[in-house]
Amino acid sequence: MKRLLPYMSKYKAYAILTPILMVLEVATDIFIPFFMARIVDVGIKTQDIDYVIKTGMIMVGLALLGMFFGVLSAFCASRAGHGFASELRLETFKKVQSFSFGNLDDFSVSSLITRLTNDITTLGQVTVMSLRMGVRAPFMLMFALIMAITINAQLTMVFLVSIPLTIVLMGFVFKKAGPIFSKIQKQVDRLNSVIKENLTGIGVVKSFNRESFEEKRFAVANDALRDTALEAVSMIAFFMPIINIVIYATIIAVLWFGGQQVVQGILGQGSLISFITYITQVMISLMMLSMFSMQLLRGNASRKRVIEVWDTYSEITEIDNPITEVENGSIEFKNVSFKYPTSNTNVLNNINLAIQAGETIGIIGSTGSSKSTLVQLIPRLYDATEGEVLVGGHNVKDYSVKPLRDQVAFVLQKNTLFRGTLRDNMHWGNADATDAEIEVALRQASAWDFVSAFNDGLDHEVEENGDNFSGGQKQRLSIARALLKNPKIIILDDSTSAVDMSTDAKIQNTFATDLKDITTIIIGQRISSIQNSDRILVIHEGEIESIGTHDQLLLESEIYREINESQAKGVGVNE
Ligand SMILES: Nc1ncnc2c1ncn2[C@@H]1O[C@H](COP(=O)(O)OP(=O)(O)OP(=O)(O)O)[C@@H](O)[C@H]1O
Ligand SMILES: [Mg+2]
Repeated sequence: MKRLLPYMSKYKAYAILTPILMVLEVATDIFIPFFMARIVDVGIKTQDIDYVIKTGMIMVGLALLGMFFGVLSAFCASRAGHGFASELRLETFKKVQSFSFGNLDDFSVSSLITRLTNDITTLGQVTVMSLRMGVRAPFMLMFALIMAITINAQLTMVFLVSIPLTIVLMGFVFKKAGPIFSKIQKQVDRLNSVIKENLTGIGVVKSFNRESFEEKRFAVANDALRDTALEAVSMIAFFMPIINIVIYATIIAVLWFGGQQVVQGILGQGSLISFITYITQVMISLMMLSMFSMQLLRGNASRKRVIEVWDTYSEITEIDNPITEVENGSIEFKNVSFKYPTSNTNVLNNINLAIQAGETIGIIGSTGSSKSTLVQLIPRLYDATEGEVLVGGHNVKDYSVKPLRDQVAFVLQKNTLFRGTLRDNMHWGNADATDAEIEVALRQASAWDFVSAFNDGLDHEVEENGDNFSGGQKQRLSIARALLKNPKIIILDDSTSAVDMSTDAKIQNTFATDLKDITTIIIGQRISSIQNSDRILVIHEGEIESIGTHDQLLLESEIYREINESQAKGVGVNE
């Protein structure tokens, strides 16, 4: 809690006002039964109508005042609670931004979404409740108890039985409820992951007619959440009537003993009535306290999940005094092996390779042969498990991450555009790029033709994920975005796979002429995409099978020859 509290500072005033207003509200609630007793025991007994009306007016005034304090404290509490939640959300979001690919693999994206939304909202709600119920209940309990004692100390003895009984019952429920709340959050994670996977892949789901399968998968996660939620509710549902029985038994006991005192003339009728109101208030406060503690348990489960995010640090760390300038575009792999954090087998084994600045390297190999994995080590999306990766003559770990990633432009295999205009998207590459510079980059990526065809040109809106562009268009826009960084190294991971052959050839031509100073790594599935590279790397099962020019590899590499032959045949049949 100490770690979360500073995020309340902006809303401190509200957080302080709420309990004060709440105490004032409780005070009015407490005095009302007191005046009621006066009406019965003084006003009615002496038939003094004036007294009854005057006291009645005070009661109405108190009730109105109480209502005013109540509304105001509710307002302040929501300000404090939801403001607090929004600060926590911002902090957590910032933290997630710093996460490496490895951290994201560990948490899973859906779980992070649940933590950022559901868990933090819960924390906000629990805060609202703590500020209100958490203050109201103990104060009301105390005040009402004091009032009851002043009316009749002997009668308050009934609490000696009912309060401990309630506490024992509460303790019993808590022990069971804590784990259930943690379980609920995990199941919300699971449900969100099913929803996310389904909605992001809805096209595939539909084309494979997998709707009913997906519904079943959803139903399983949904039912599990329902059952756990019901488990929590049924425990509360079971608890409530028991507490009610305790309350009624207490009232009956008071009526029994108090009634005798009234008959004996020791206690006024009005005092008995207000006494009963006070003990009801005491019991209600106890009930409120138990509900409130239940919410605290729920909040605690969410708090742990948020802190877990805060306590996770990207393993991609910077050294003290990192290098901020990438001298040249040379790359070297020295005895590099790699395994993903979530797996225990190496997917790259003992890679040794030196690439000169300005060289164009093609990479080819069957699917799953670790082509993407290899190049991800260059801008430190992951760190090599063994060996060293050097850029511009220095280990990538010695660089400050930002300049390194600015100098190593990476067009990911699964590239994405973001909601906003085309210009906004291009500014990701370089926030200061002018329209003229953007046009140059778009031309180099062979994207200018279709962009200039829009009436609104660079103002054209891009939808979420770039869904209003074709696969090939998206790829070319992603290349342009990367070029705008003016990088020393550019990595194109299967970035022209959806582009037709002639456009692909045009893009390659631009790289070979205009952009020949940039070190270029092209991963391709088609021989035609890479055959003009200075050197071609054939990767097989995480190892370099051979390196050479197209002609050399045709002679030396069996794998390369096979790929070439199968594609040459394919070309004959299809195109
Ligand atoms: N995030 C990840 N966590 C765990 N394993 C992964 C992850 N990404 C890839 N792998 C595994 O690493 C191996 C290499 O994958 P990689 O994506 O590098 O292949 P690739 O050669 O790029 O394939 P493709 O041609 O299909 O793009 C595969 O066996 C894959 O299952
Ligand atoms: Mg790949």
